[in-house]
Amino acid sequence: MAYKEILGIDFGGSGIKGAPVDTKKGVLTAERHRIVTPEPASPESVVEVIEQIADHFNWTGPIGIGFPAAVQNGVVKTASNIDKKWIGVNAQNIVSERLNVPVCVVNDADAAGFAEMKFGRGKKHMGTVLLITIGTGIGTVLFSGGELVANTELGHLYLNNGREAEEFAADSARQRDELDWTEWGTRFNVYLNEMHKLFWPELIIVGGGVSKKPEKFIHTIDVPSEIVMAKLKNEAGIIGAALAARKFVKKSR
Ligand code: BGC
Repeated sequence: MAYKEILGIDFGGSGIKGAPVDTKKGVLTAERHRIVTPEPASPESVVEVIEQIADHFNWTGPIGIGFPAAVQNGVVKTASNIDKKWIGVNAQNIVSERLNVPVCVVNDADAAGFAEMKFGRGKKHMGTVLLITIGTGIGTVLFSGGELVANTELGHLYLNNGREAEEFAADSARQRDELDWTEWGTRFNVYLNEMHKLFWPELIIVGGGVSKKPEKFIHTIDVPSEIVMAKLKNEAGIIGAALAARKFVKKSR
């Protein structure tokens, strides 16, 4: 039997956000709680924040967490925008031991992908769907026939201009280089066309903060795939982390 209500947590570059999620309906059941991501985002400090979020909701049930890193069997494998001390750490075990509840840790973009495919713009799509989350980093999720290819790290792909996609076109690049939306959109369009050339997605879903303001950059986008903004906006990461936990954490009772 699976749990219905699960605390979903989205560990992002600027904030760690959580809320209880009704995993049957794909909605938050309480207002999300956000705590600024500690610096450095070390294992100790992040686990502390996760505990504060759980305490905020008096949470004693299972937790799903999306991490901004490649994650295999709960173990963090990369650390582009988080403290390097995370590499090799079993995030699932340390949070579970600290809070004494079942925990599931997956890549943050994969989490957002689960949510958009079940409740959002990818619902029932059986073709190749690429979801791209834009934030501090660029997260990618690839679905084909409704199945996920986990941990695609296509934000780290190098473009023809010799630049790493994430460094060139993430939202953090827009802020760092003080780009206006047209300048940023033009860069994002380069990335989208590269993705199209390599994967031929029928549908590209854009998630992360920028998906809330498509009017600012959509005029710069010209790619031969259908392109839509994520329906669940930046709640997708929280909802999807809870969905992942629902799938992977089974009730033993
Ligand atoms: C990380 C990915 C993550 C993405 C979005 C990238 O830097 O390598 O694992 O999904 O940022 O947070």
